Amino acid sequence: MKSKALRETVTRLFADNKGLLAMDESNPTCNKRFASLGIPQTEEARRAYRELIVTTPGLGECIGGAILYDETIHQGKKDGTPFIEVLIEAGIIPGIKVDAGAKELAGHPGEKVSEGLDGLRGRLAEYSKMGARFAKWRAVIAIGDGIPSWGSIEANAHALARYAALCQEAGLVPIVEPEVLMDGEHSLEQCYKVTDELLRTVFSQLFAQRVMLEGMILKPNMVLPGLACIRQETVDEVADATVNCFLRAVPAAVPAIAFLSGGQAAELASARLNAMNVRFKSQLPWAVAFSFSRAIQQPALELWKGQEANVSAAQQALYHRALCNQAARRGEYDAAMEKR
Ligand code: 13P
Repeated sequence: MKSKALRETVTRLFADNKGLLAMDESNPTCNKRFASLGIPQTEEARRAYRELIVTTPGLGECIGGAILYDETIHQGKKDGTPFIEVLIEAGIIPGIKVDAGAKELAGHPGEKVSEGLDGLRGRLAEYSKMGARFAKWRAVIAIGDGIPSWGSIEANAHALARYAALCQEAGLVPIVEPEVLMDGEHSLEQCYKVTDELLRTVFSQLFAQRVMLEGMILKPNMVLPGLACIRQETVDEVADATVNCFLRAVPAAVPAIAFLSGGQAAELASARLNAMNVRFKSQLPWAVAFSFSRAIQQPALELWKGQEANVSAAQQALYHRALCNQAARRGEYDAAMEKR
């Protein structure tokens, strides 16, 4: 019975070429983004910003699910309506980030492991009672001199699988997010190799922990050259490398791959997602979708700047990016959409 409900949640999240909006920045991450734009780093500013997001007119036409953070899931609009209710009313399924952040991995300088398994069963039950229907856990893998190590890949993959099994037990769809970071000078080929090894390890651990692949969502990085790499491949080259990597490593039973944006420029992330759907549509066993944070929110945040007077312009920018990414799911995004 639970497995049917999990599958139905996934179907609803990605129906009509919709995707996910990640608005689950932890307080330190949200504050960092606010600080860079001179926005006060207060609980009230974070609440006001999240109210702007969830009340964006039409958002539910292109966003099927929104990932919240613990602070945000307990907040609401100025008039007291809980954000969860606002989302459900807009036809957007609420989800929740449940990892407790990436911490230094002992014995592995420069590498991290995401924590949060202790007490997770209880937290999932609470979030489910509040109305969340899916969850997210992010593991981060950096590429650098001699890293990633096997130890960090295995530790992160194991934690992801333990988390995913607990989610399914609680009736929540797990978003499994193994992220290879874009920082560094590494080439696209190096990113391919690391992503491939990471994905294979994650799926081996998911299998070992008896996670039902039909009731989960994979949220990975695209296969990209490092931000500081001299050679930056074209949109089509990135789409080809990414889909080829995933066709080899991700079982067809997984219903959806929803990419993170990882610091890519918003328009570039849309163009790359679009190219994957244009070039591979007939061969894809899973939905190829988005679960962006920065690539949906950043233009809106830059317009808002913490000012009430800018709310409407910021909401239009947010809706526009969501709409562009929905078009990219259909393979119908093009640069002309940005000029309208
Ligand atoms: P970005 O799209 O900004 O990478 O964020 C996605 C996310 O949820 C990170 O965990």
